[in-house]
Amino acid sequence: MAKNILVLAASGNVGSQLVAQLRVAGHHVRAGTRNPATAEFPADVRVVRAELSEPETLIGCLDEIDAVFLLWPLHTGAQLPKALDIIAESTRRVVFLGTGGIPDLSFEEQQGLVHGCGIESVVIRPSTFAVNTLWWADQIRTGDIVHGSHGALPMSLIHEADMAAVAARALTENSHAGATYTLTGPEVLTQAEQVRVIGEVLGRPLRWAELTREQARQRLLADKSFPDSFVEVLLDGYDTMMAAPRPRTTSTVADLTGRPARSLAEWVSDHRADFG
Ligand SMILES: NC(=O)c1ccc[n+]([C@@H]2O[C@H](COP(=O)([O-])OP(=O)(O)OC[C@H]3O[C@@H](n4cnc5c(N)ncnc54)[C@H](OP(=O)(O)O)[C@@H]3O)[C@@H](O)[C@H]2O)c1
Repeated sequence: MAKNILVLAASGNVGSQLVAQLRVAGHHVRAGTRNPATAEFPADVRVVRAELSEPETLIGCLDEIDAVFLLWPLHTGAQLPKALDIIAESTRRVVFLGTGGIPDLSFEEQQGLVHGCGIESVVIRPSTFAVNTLWWADQIRTGDIVHGSHGALPMSLIHEADMAAVAARALTENSHAGATYTLTGPEVLTQAEQVRVIGEVLGRPLRWAELTREQARQRLLADKSFPDSFVEVLLDGYDTMMAAPRPRTTSTVADLTGRPARSLAEWVSDHRADFG
């Protein structure tokens, strides 16, 4: 049966995929954005203003909504409890995409808040997004060498379409309440190996050139497309990941969606135009 779903951060990598997949499946989609006047969504999507740093803006978005997709793009988690309270007052289900990117709220704390919010809840814990490789797009457009630190850092990159596919199931099926799903791509690749795969798909001899952390820091700070406030968070995260055991892949995408998680090569193929 068609459901009414509110997708917050609907213009983002995951949100826009989720909007598309829910529409294809016949559900009624409401899209939350800070800027409804400039947002571009299909005509059958109702667009609403949702500013997560002002959770009371959610109140007017929730009438007759069956389930909400929420992620937290802010650098503080201070308002997450209030946002969850407002969502829980008006709807029956929330699906939350967790993150390691909130300095004052760990993933475990996010998970505790979401599962404790009083309605059906699902938490998705994704591995690193494949879309992060676009941070190298400028370098790839202008040469065959990608400069960065932590080239030996292994990661499993996940396609936004796979996160959206799992979220769509969790939003619309009744069997997921209380679950935390850890999602990865199908492979583990170091950053240097990722550059090689991107080159293979683009037909280019791309290679990695290692920088020190300080050199990488300066380079990211000089990159106006990269938020300054995120530079230390990212590099600290990479240091932590370097010291952790090599990541392992999960079969959760395949288990829940019936198709294997997409590889980095598939992701690059889908985003070929973004590399110019
Ligand atoms: N990159 C990774 O490797 C990684 C890994 C794990 C988790 N995550 C998490 O994934 C999330 C990002 O997802 P994404 O890549 O799909 O998003 P994105 O493409 O980076 O876009 C950000 C989205 O957040 C919305 N947004 C930003 N600030 C907002 C605010 N104050 N109020 C309401 N909406 C706001 C934007 O909507 P409008 O501009 O339309 O308002 C936009 O849709 C973050 O929470 C990040 O921590 C990322």
